Amino acid sequence: MSNIADREYDFICKLVYEHSRINLGDGKKELVTARLGKRLRVLDIPTYKDYCDFLQTPKGEEELTHLIDSISTNHTFFFREFKHFEFLQQTVLPHFAPKTQSQGSFKVWSAASSSGEEPYSIAISLSDYFAAMSGWKWTLDATDISTKILAKAKEGIFAEDRVKEVPQETLRKYFQKGTGKWDGCFKVKEDLISRVKFTHLNLLGPAYPFTEKFQLIFCRNVMIYFDRPTQEQLVRRLSDCLVSGGYLFVGHSESLTGIKHPLKTIKPAIYQKP
Ligand SMILES: C[S@@+](CC[C@H](N)C(=O)[O-])C[C@H]1O[C@@H](n2cnc3c(N)ncnc32)[C@H](O)[C@@H]1O
Repeated sequence: MSNIADREYDFICKLVYEHSRINLGDGKKELVTARLGKRLRVLDIPTYKDYCDFLQTPKGEEELTHLIDSISTNHTFFFREFKHFEFLQQTVLPHFAPKTQSQGSFKVWSAASSSGEEPYSIAISLSDYFAAMSGWKWTLDATDISTKILAKAKEGIFAEDRVKEVPQETLRKYFQKGTGKWDGCFKVKEDLISRVKFTHLNLLGPAYPFTEKFQLIFCRNVMIYFDRPTQEQLVRRLSDCLVSGGYLFVGHSESLTGIKHPLKTIKPAIYQKP
């Protein structure tokens, strides 16, 4: 496989940026070469130049989704940044869904849900909290730009080493242990999977499809790829999707310091709509 020339790398960077606002920059050439190399082999395309030509044909539009899939980093894990889950249990839920209130609704959005670890961690937290509150309805939307990763998330199957941080009791309650060809895997139980609504969504796309506002949005470890004007615009749009008093969780390495936004800082990586 040939190396990627500057011209083709610049073309790919521009295309990825236009579609997803993921800013690859010079430092990602090796990563792009490795990830696209696999894609070239699947398509049986010999060079990166041929691949760039292909992207400019009518079929190229369809290929764009695969290109973004290959480039975007999907790294995630269960109960990542545990402080968010503590804050959810100790502050957000008691505030919006006090146990003294017999009915109501609580809506959460996991806005870059990757392979499912984040939305399932949220679903487990909500399921535990609302277990004895039958008058309450909770909903969880999970969205991602990558169709491939969404399909994986919907399956809810995880290798043993992916669930090693999940407490044993939670594993027993919400997962089935695989047998036969699934030996060494854990599958999220169907009734929990069915509580998560997985949808393809580009956070930088035109309009969001939601008709109701959320009490809580997780938008973690995705903004890091975007430049500052894009981050500002995204935080404003997310804030429009929150009820008054609603919370936004961002990744701990994605502080909103230095960007203009309408939210109140509550703790590191936790913001609230006034
Ligand atoms: C590093 S993962 C973060 C997963 C999870 N939120 C977490 O913190 O563990 C980043 C995810 O953002 C998704 N992503 C990247 N650009 C996006 C965009 N423009 N719209 C929606 N999702 C995007 C990627 O496909 C990937 O699954």
